[in-house]
Amino acid sequence: MNSENYLDIIKKLALQIKNEPARYVFDKFISENNFNSNIRRRLGDLFFESIRYYRRLVEDPDFNLEQVKNEVCSKDLTIQDLTDIFGLNGEIAEYVSESLNDINDYKFLLSRGPLTLRVNPMKMTRDRLLSLLKDFKPIKTEISPFGIKLNSNINVRQLQEFKKGFFEIQDEASQLVYNLVAPKPNEKILDLCAGTGGKSIALQSCSYNTLDLHATDISNDRLTILKKRSKVLGLKIKVVNNPFQHFYDKVLLDVPCSGSGVIRRDVDNLIRMDKDRLLELVKTQRILLNKAINFVKKGGVIVYVTCSFLKKENEENIEYILNEYRNLRFVEVCDILDANIVKKLNLKSYFKTFPRYYAMDGFFGAVLRVY
Ligand SMILES: C[S@@+](CC[C@H](N)C(=O)[O-])C[C@H]1O[C@@H](n2cnc3c(N)ncnc32)[C@H](O)[C@@H]1O
Repeated sequence: MNSENYLDIIKKLALQIKNEPARYVFDKFISENNFNSNIRRRLGDLFFESIRYYRRLVEDPDFNLEQVKNEVCSKDLTIQDLTDIFGLNGEIAEYVSESLNDINDYKFLLSRGPLTLRVNPMKMTRDRLLSLLKDFKPIKTEISPFGIKLNSNINVRQLQEFKKGFFEIQDEASQLVYNLVAPKPNEKILDLCAGTGGKSIALQSCSYNTLDLHATDISNDRLTILKKRSKVLGLKIKVVNNPFQHFYDKVLLDVPCSGSGVIRRDVDNLIRMDKDRLLELVKTQRILLNKAINFVKKGGVIVYVTCSFLKKENEENIEYILNEYRNLRFVEVCDILDANIVKKLNLKSYFKTFPRYYAMDGFFGAVLRVY
């Protein structure tokens, strides 16, 4: 196959991602065609990189990936570029721009992002895992004490070390949610949007199974995956349908969000987003914040987390909920996290990460105490 054929295929697939996730579109196409592994890899690399420049890809008949990359690299971005080059809806481009200190920071979301693992301290030390994975040139994460970054694109799920539960795949920013929750032995903790359990598993394994940890989610399918993995790892995570009222020391609220902070991995999160969808998400986030308050006991905290950098889903929701409840107080994250983390990430009130710093995903966190 020559490069023109590749480009034709990619342009056709790109048109479908307005309605369906890019991963789904690509996997479906691959399953319907009998390409060898080289062609599959090349198509995948080209597709997932080209759709970062979505509007150019679908509208420019002479689209050339290297040329557009160089152009973006050497120019000062404008709001119009977010639409004209990357294909963001106009209102979403405005929200992106108002949420970034410098609109050029958007460029940091265009790279691929490292493959980051979190050691399971119940089964392995970070140093030992570094040596077991030495063929993949691992390095320690700079901030999370549990992380390892690999400079490699291998499928780590196939490794014996993964099957034996020595590590999980988890970005460094997500690993630091453990530090933000700062769990203590025997604390009663509820993970209200536990999904497949990335954060529940991190909380319990990094606490050596000492937490009274309850997990729930709207999706039973996701909770089934959580149950299976926590069983393999020997972790005590109780899946509950009806969490107890005013019972928990801490409620982790990792809400559904735009995923704007993880577009290095899920490139199309923002391409499909428009104002209505975003406001629908914000509405759900606010409902969940209101709900979380009922589960926390007096003196307990809610740890609100998103993998988004959009102020609408972050700071504006925290301001909203603080205005709604007089018995809720904001706790600055610099009073919770280690001084070393606070200093390196330059944090004060909120927990905020971005690929510009230590190549982490874009995460947001805020802590609220209930009185
Ligand atoms: C960001 S994901 C959670 C990821 C998970 N905490 C992890 O670390 O793997 C958000 C989750 O919220 C769940 N969700 C959406 N609406 C919900 C609701 N009303 N109540 C509970 N969970 C909800 C989704 O099913 C999804 O699993």
